[in-house]
Amino acid sequence: MTKPKLLMTRVLSPATIERARRDYDLDLNEADVPFTPDELIARAAGKDALLVTLADRFSADVIAKLDRSVKVIATYSVGHEHIDLQAAKARGIRVAYTPDAVTVATAEIGFLLILGAARRASEGERLLRAKAWHGWQPMQLIGRRLDGKRLGIYGMGKIGQAIAKRARGFDMDIHYFNRRPLDAADARGATYHATLDSLLAVTDILCIAAPSTPETRGSIDAAALAKLKPGAIVTNIARGDLVVDADLIAAVKSGHIAHIGLDVYTNEPNIHPGYYDLENAFLLPHMGTSVIEARDEMGRDALDNIDAVLAGREPPTALV
Ligand code: DGY
Repeated sequence: MTKPKLLMTRVLSPATIERARRDYDLDLNEADVPFTPDELIARAAGKDALLVTLADRFSADVIAKLDRSVKVIATYSVGHEHIDLQAAKARGIRVAYTPDAVTVATAEIGFLLILGAARRASEGERLLRAKAWHGWQPMQLIGRRLDGKRLGIYGMGKIGQAIAKRARGFDMDIHYFNRRPLDAADARGATYHATLDSLLAVTDILCIAAPSTPETRGSIDAAALAKLKPGAIVTNIARGDLVVDADLIAAVKSGHIAHIGLDVYTNEPNIHPGYYDLENAFLLPHMGTSVIEARDEMGRDALDNIDAVLAGREPPTALV
């Protein structure tokens, strides 16, 4: 029996590749370099399914040019702003994502950013590696404790809730802004704010955990940052384009924002150069889900979605 044809656009975890080779006629992008739109269209020709990542841009134009053989696009991510869902739906292509597999890993990086920014971890490491540390000093690299601080979570989906769960262990006072309030069992004492402005006004440490949508893009701009208390900390584990980089950099330079912790950026990997000059910035290279457990589960969930579509079943985590 011939196997369905699958394009895997990047080198995923060994367990994912093994299962894909077993069940599919696999075309793997061994070069592990993102395809250009034209390459993507060419390599997708004749394929039944595409297992893709956030580096693959499925604009309406790319989707319109996909071979009619393509029945499903399964993205190996929770973020899906790289796929024009309406265009896919119009072409009858199912799209699915991996919203569950990424939660714990991303929340852990969120907490690393919160701690790293509040405790000035990368400044300390840079000092040591520069051989510029002259021993313990009472007032060197003074940061902030987390207990009793107000953590403002912007976006209280699965990842926001997982951040809140960890913050409870640090005795933080949890506040959140979301499209709608959680029910009491899920909120577990976290205070709901019906507007972003209201959340920002009470926040000591902001954790951006909302998806990139037309409503959220650019929402953390100069006006929003000005609403935070002087000395606030800003962290981002969602998508870079929620933040206006120049405004955040200016707010840090002015001292209004004391520290930042970022894992995501606009235009990755060509991030705003101003970030490199900020001493009090804890910067990671989009590694929120970079743990083998998440990678294997993302692969499992993406392949489960593809299996389901090709078997005529509803994909477990469908977008359209
Ligand atoms: C996601 O899942 O959207 C992350 O950004 C990458 O894993």
